[in-house]
Amino acid sequence: MLMWLTREEERILGGEKGFAAQKAMEILVALGDIFGADRLIPVGSVQVSGVSYKTIGDEGLEWLESLQGGKAVVEATLNPAGMDLERWEEMGVPKGFADRQLRIIAAFQSMGIQPLCTCTPYLLGNLPRFGEHLAWSESSAVCFANSVLGARTNREGGPSAIASALVGKTPRFGYHLPENRRPALSIDVPISLKDGFDFSLLGYVIGLEAKNRVPFIESMGRYGYIICRDELKALSASLAASGSVALFHMEGVTPEASMAKKSLRLWIKEVERLSIEREDLERAREKLSTASEDEVDLVAFGCPHASLEELRLIAGLLRGKSLKRRVRLWIFTSLGIRRIAERCGYIHAIEAAGGRIYADTCMVVAPLEKMGFEAIAVNSAKAAVYLSALNKPKVILASTEECISMATKR
Ligand code: F3S
Repeated sequence: MLMWLTREEERILGGEKGFAAQKAMEILVALGDIFGADRLIPVGSVQVSGVSYKTIGDEGLEWLESLQGGKAVVEATLNPAGMDLERWEEMGVPKGFADRQLRIIAAFQSMGIQPLCTCTPYLLGNLPRFGEHLAWSESSAVCFANSVLGARTNREGGPSAIASALVGKTPRFGYHLPENRRPALSIDVPISLKDGFDFSLLGYVIGLEAKNRVPFIESMGRYGYIICRDELKALSASLAASGSVALFHMEGVTPEASMAKKSLRLWIKEVERLSIEREDLERAREKLSTASEDEVDLVAFGCPHASLEELRLIAGLLRGKSLKRRVRLWIFTSLGIRRIAERCGYIHAIEAAGGRIYADTCMVVAPLEKMGFEAIAVNSAKAAVYLSALNKPKVILASTEECISMATKR
């Protein structure tokens, strides 16, 4: 063992606090030793991915049930599950899948991990502070927390995030260290972007170039356009999907950007420079679209989970319209946002047009391939990347307005 442990940490490793805490400490020590961490540091919160039965299967379920007796010692929240926990029958989720999914949720709850079941926990109260250390394992949320909020987390896997929840600590390496947060490439974006869809495409293109490096995005504020939280949410998700970007800096927008700009001047010889043009975004869109408009039988929004503002926008676009007979329109969000949207009247407006709003899950982790869909239209490059990897259903990537037009009667 290479990483230094306190007496208490050694006792946990020795089994003094029970089997689950011991297993958790074994995971953290192994991770710390592999990545050269000097010690463990306390975390402010944990976000646990690997919640859907579709992704973790029976082996994952058994492992979670073997951890019974373990208790989260910090705020810990869950990523989306494989179904709406209340409306899974309406979604058409098979009963066998649902039974196992509910056992997974029960196992997490018995460990004190809160079933928020969302990839946007920062919209529901798990909102980290600047400089706070975290152990988060949802790639889009990791990128948002590191970049937009200035918190510090590595891209954890599901098991290491659970381990951090049970111990309250994470090994100190990677993005927890200031020297790993400086940019390695600089991106100029000399075009104006108009909405979250454009930001989603931009993130996809930058992610392909950046891979796991930290990009610095130059003067996006130059057109006097105020970049909103949902655009940064879309950008974070696609950066983390086409590459494995966990942190970006955006001049005039993100909290560490001025520090990053200073370090760019110092390390200029090591920094690659790129420019992204409108044609790059168009090429990305074509590459990720495998279906034609007339094949679409599901339009799915909410990757990452839709915010209240996005639901308001969709409700407005659907006003006075109704869905084509063979097309369904599903929007994925968290239970908390759905409840507030109900109060605002957005749910009523969306459902009046024939749409449905599902909580706790999303188009990627729900077993859509078992539900008979042929082609899905999405406005998220991350969703398109993950759905394309499954091969079926086919995918079309389009703006929110274009997706609504594919779903509704003329
Ligand atoms: Fe969230 Fe599912 Fe997309 S977990 S980021 S909505 S793939």
